[in-house]
Amino acid sequence: MRTIEEIDWAEMWRTLLDESSWGQRAGKPEYWDERVDQFEGVIKQSNREAMIMSKLEIEPDHTVLDIGAGPGTIAIPLAKIVKGVTAVEPSPGMLARLKEKASKEHLANIRYIAKKWEDVEIGEGKDIEAGTHDLVIASYSIVMKDIKTTFLKMNEAAKRYVYLFVGAGRGKTGRSFWATFHRGKPSPDYIYLYNILYQLGIYANVDIMNSNFEMLFPDIEAAVQHYIQHFKGWMDVSGDKEEKLRVYLSENLVEENGMLLLKQKLKTAMIWWKKEEV
Ligand SMILES: C[S@@+](CC[C@H](N)C(=O)[O-])C[C@H]1O[C@@H](n2cnc3c(N)ncnc32)[C@H](O)[C@@H]1O
Repeated sequence: MRTIEEIDWAEMWRTLLDESSWGQRAGKPEYWDERVDQFEGVIKQSNREAMIMSKLEIEPDHTVLDIGAGPGTIAIPLAKIVKGVTAVEPSPGMLARLKEKASKEHLANIRYIAKKWEDVEIGEGKDIEAGTHDLVIASYSIVMKDIKTTFLKMNEAAKRYVYLFVGAGRGKTGRSFWATFHRGKPSPDYIYLYNILYQLGIYANVDIMNSNFEMLFPDIEAAVQHYIQHFKGWMDVSGDKEEKLRVYLSENLVEENGMLLLKQKLKTAMIWWKKEEV
């Protein structure tokens, strides 16, 4: 028998990330460049913004570091209520959308760092100074392979709190969407990250929350095209697979006010800690 300390959680994280299709895709800026509209469309129909905003301990004079800010899901609503936001985002497409939205909302308190978190330098005169951001947040953007260095750097950047939002388990969409279409291994979820933090001496808190995605489509064809676009570049949905997708959608979409609705019930883990002296 192995004790929990003897398990190399960080190595497991790296291996599982390498083996999962999400791990192979999500760390590549070009993957996100092609999906800005699609991603925003999905996020707008989820409760992500409200769920995260209701959980953060924020004050108007705070500064926030948002790692993997994407199109600004959290950075934009945060910039409206705090002193300043620093957005780290390596995908030029996502960053352009974030800047566009900030400009539309007349938000001049966002600083942009067009880099991967691994390449962000901390220190005097560098990208960011240590301990200067009250909150450090990473929402659905933990795809870094060297996860221990990633966490220690987040802790170093923070003045008060670090918040991570990551998937917990697989969720249910009628008969599982995942089981029907994804053949590869699922990506590692929050439980690995929690144990890695423990091994770093960071005893984090965990809240498990419901994160619901409700996709609305005018008709079945629009739904099929949405998922073909979603899978583009990493999964072949031609021929009989497209037919399988159509059958799955026609069995799981429900009619509501003249539209077709696909409900996905997922769980999100909020892992958070007060800055630790580690
Ligand atoms: C799923 S999106 C999440 C966007 C936003 N945080 C949200 O919750 O809606 C993941 C984002 O992380 C970014 N990303 C991927 N690898 C990254 C890395 N190594 N460092 C920082 N950001 C990264 C991607 O470019 C993408 O915009």
